[in-house]
Amino acid sequence: MKVVVTESYDASCAYVADMICNLVNEKPNCKLGLATGGTPVPMYQKLIEANKAGKVDFSQVHTVNLDEYCGIPETHDQSYRYFMNHNLFDHINIDKANTYVAKGMGDSAANAAELEAKVREGGVADLQLLGIGNNGHIAFNEASDVLHATAHVETLTESTIQANSRFFEKKEDVPTTAITMGMGDILAAKCVVLIATGAAKTDAIRGLVMDDVITTHNPSSMLKMHENVVVVIDKELADLVGYKA
Ligand code: F6R
Repeated sequence: MKVVVTESYDASCAYVADMICNLVNEKPNCKLGLATGGTPVPMYQKLIEANKAGKVDFSQVHTVNLDEYCGIPETHDQSYRYFMNHNLFDHINIDKANTYVAKGMGDSAANAAELEAKVREGGVADLQLLGIGNNGHIAFNEASDVLHATAHVETLTESTIQANSRFFEKKEDVPTTAITMGMGDILAAKCVVLIATGAAKTDAIRGLVMDDVITTHNPSSMLKMHENVVVVIDKELADLVGYKA
């Protein structure tokens, strides 16, 4: 695992945006696994700027997102399809037909099966972007006694509902279940890039970068089994974790 410690969160976003631009420039028809949440938003802004400046062309890129809430339509401003359109796809020259975010409405088991198929359609992701939950979750694979290998419906933990309530009017509005890629889907990607910032992520990142323990109670620790993982954190978080480069 490669741990990159940057000067600032903005520098972390620039680092990851550069990685993605370099990949797209090398392989214009690459497949990207994408994430939502607050963390990647400024990174997506940098991709938009690079695209507008003519430095990267997304016209042949395919994308698959990690997850989607159950029970809210894609037109809902907290759906992850809405998030991706609003924060990235509407502002770059990607063909939206080549972007996939799982369906939140309808038969959840069928929606999970469709996501599972999309993870491997045309080959696995060249790069999978990840954020990390305060409890170490990646995608919506929640810290628990067991994890799942494939795409499935996950019941969100109290910690995740609490953390995500900042995006909703009230906590009761946060969906309690989501469709998510499984651990095997994430580990199948050729390269995994995780970006984290903020004190709330200290314990989760400590469990990821400070030892070789793998536990289902910190799902991110499973990334230790992957050959090509880059964890990008700023100096402030590295200091809180006690990580020395
Ligand atoms: C989002 C996702 C989640 C988030 C995580 C961190 O698609 O899969 O695992 O990456 O909850 O969210 P933020 O960035 O809002 O702290």
